[in-house]
Amino acid sequence: MKAFVVEKYKKKGPLRLTDRPEPDVRENDVLVEVHATAVNLLDSKIRDGEFKLILPYRPPFILGHDVAGTVVRAGSKVKRFKVGDNVYARPRDHRIGTFAELIAIDEADVALKPANISMEEAASLPLVGLTAWQALVEVGKVKPGQRVFIQAGSGGVGTFAIQLAKHLGATVATTTSAKNMEMVKSLGADVVINYKTQDFEKILSGYDLVLNSQDPDTLEKSLRVVKPGGLLISISGPPDPAFAKALGLNPFLKLVLRLLSRGVRSKARKLGINYSFLFMRADGQQLGEITRLIESGAVRPVVDKVFPFEKTGDALVYVETGRAKGKVAITVK
Ligand SMILES: NC(=O)c1ccc[n+]([C@@H]2O[C@H](COP(=O)([O-])OP(=O)(O)OC[C@H]3O[C@@H](n4cnc5c(N)ncnc54)[C@H](OP(=O)(O)O)[C@@H]3O)[C@@H](O)[C@H]2O)c1
Repeated sequence: MKAFVVEKYKKKGPLRLTDRPEPDVRENDVLVEVHATAVNLLDSKIRDGEFKLILPYRPPFILGHDVAGTVVRAGSKVKRFKVGDNVYARPRDHRIGTFAELIAIDEADVALKPANISMEEAASLPLVGLTAWQALVEVGKVKPGQRVFIQAGSGGVGTFAIQLAKHLGATVATTTSAKNMEMVKSLGADVVINYKTQDFEKILSGYDLVLNSQDPDTLEKSLRVVKPGGLLISISGPPDPAFAKALGLNPFLKLVLRLLSRGVRSKARKLGINYSFLFMRADGQQLGEITRLIESGAVRPVVDKVFPFEKTGDALVYVETGRAKGKVAITVK
């Protein structure tokens, strides 16, 4: 099968299109013929070597974290899917590789694809949809009437998270630049701040939850937006001790992560707010909930561009500009 691989860790290094053997199918796996995939900044960060310590993929390896396609084989213990099902997934860490014609995925990571959207739209959803779900539903437990601030509302995570927060009954503030303000309003944002001309920390206060996805400066400012007892969730770091524990890291790495987040945790403590780092994980059950949100019309996918498979490298370059409006998908079949 054809696949795009990382041959060696290198900042902005190219992906190579190559022939790879078909994946082994374990007893709990489905083999999915990939119709579409999508790009995440995590792909670039892994290729750059930024995640080498916590996700030690050994080159050459196939990149890619999102997939929509059709089940073409099912392992002997697979219960929930059959050959011919249209599915989508964010395969679990250590088993990624969706920039390929086929991928074997544990059925626990898979859900039926929403019937009302294309393969490209479906492939755009798993990683960002699960991130938003885990932040707002699982960790944040957002309730009607709460106020939620979602940074970068025009990005992959933001476009999904705004809609999910509105669906949960929250009032939603977001940041973006002038050209995307109408788009985030159309997704339901109540308060839209132009981050190029306005300081969100002077406009927002007393928020129940902030979803931080930007740099350390923005994280620091975000602390002042959360009300006492509220929650600051960061998906762009720094990682906290709970994350190190969940990953089962060695004592040295545990200490490193503890030190990296010591500053923000101590500031949060003094302000009486909770800080939590989130690194999303694969979850087919939650993805099933996302299917229901899409099919009911509560959330719609936002796809900026679709690239052909042979232009996967260009798709990565485009996402790395940081200007994507929603998601960037790739047609594989
Ligand atoms: N921990 C996790 O599990 C997890 C999961 C998913 C993503 N992430 C991380 O979360 C971050 C966001 O991911 P993403 O996929 O949503 O990114 P993305 O789609 O590439 O974000 C692009 C968008 O961000 C906006 N933007 C850029 N700088 C901004 C700023 N300073 N303030 C507000 N908006 C800004 C841009 O709008 P303009 O063009 O208008 O500037 C653009 O629409 C990345 O660092 C990613 O690695 C982490």
